[in-house]
Amino acid sequence: MEEVKNTAAAKKVMLSGIQPSGDLHLGNYLGAIKNWGARADEFDCFYFMADMHTITVRQTPADLRRRTLEQLAQYIACGLDPEKNTLFIQSHVHQHAELGWVLNCYTQFGELSRMTQFKDKSAKHKDNINGGLFTYPTLMAADILLYQPDFVPVGEDQKQHVELTRNIVQRFNGIYGDVFKMPEPYIPKTGARVMGLTTPDSKMSKSIPEGCVFLLEKPEDILRKFKRAVTDSDTERCVRFDPAQKPGVANLMSIYAAVTGKTFEQIEAEFDGKGYGAFKPCVGEAVVETLRPIREEAERILKDKAYLESVYKNGAERAAYVAEKTLRKVYKKIGFVAR
Ligand code: TYM
Repeated sequence: MEEVKNTAAAKKVMLSGIQPSGDLHLGNYLGAIKNWGARADEFDCFYFMADMHTITVRQTPADLRRRTLEQLAQYIACGLDPEKNTLFIQSHVHQHAELGWVLNCYTQFGELSRMTQFKDKSAKHKDNINGGLFTYPTLMAADILLYQPDFVPVGEDQKQHVELTRNIVQRFNGIYGDVFKMPEPYIPKTGARVMGLTTPDSKMSKSIPEGCVFLLEKPEDILRKFKRAVTDSDTERCVRFDPAQKPGVANLMSIYAAVTGKTFEQIEAEFDGKGYGAFKPCVGEAVVETLRPIREEAERILKDKAYLESVYKNGAERAAYVAEKTLRKVYKKIGFVAR
């Protein structure tokens, strides 16, 4: 995807969210947050903790509460200045649930049945295939459309949900006129799909913790995980970008490229003749150095509960102001009597 620039006089809008269903990991950082950071001078930015989405899978209440606040602290530590970005908790802005209901009525059963995330999660949680899991994408469409964003920066795995949102926009606007702006997914060039360190054939996720690097993890644990990363069993043992033959090495190269800004050619040259034994700790070190300031800053912010509370309260107020404008417009168009 091309680097997006916003040169128009009126600021364009960016929006994204992450579920606080687990601790933030390197996939969330490289696939999403890194791409959000430091854009606030160019864009009006809305970033939230998608707590309502997490309950589609059973959560422990105390853990959900803790992770939601930790996630906010990590957003700020990653460089999202709360003065310049609207940072909020999804459940604090009731318009999400309300627009979600409306959009359910403009989304087809067949469309929702085709969503990869629904198929994956219902296979994984066979004892709890609830209605929320199925209609998850219409709530996500509401999250997006309430703020009329131009861009939605997400990792590759969320592209299908943004595409569905675009279909809903087309359908809704086709009936009622220009109500919603058409959002674009904004996917990074490197880091859009970080794979598990122990499972290079599946994406990095908290469900396989030994292959997942968490943003608040200790440096020694991160280094250990990289040293144990699966490479491949070929005899060549050279650092070369070949995702089909060497998925583990390609994943490590992509991570190294994303955190250092180096190209694959530069990385191949750097490790020419050195083998995996030298390569893996170098990637680990580069990740540790990228995450160190984030962890230190997040730990500092987390001690100040009053500050965090002021951030999410202000954020919810700002978000609700924008969300309410869109919701009123929608209610009017569909024929609800004004309050
Ligand atoms: P979630 O919470 O699973 O992930 C948050 C973000 O991290 C990205 N991501 C990855 N990127 C690269 N490699 C990986 N291994 C990896 N794992 C996760 C995801 O693509 C995502 O950008 N439905 C969304 C949350 C959401 C949302 C929204 C996003 C709810 N409402 C509105 C954007 C706009 C989700 O489950 O992401």
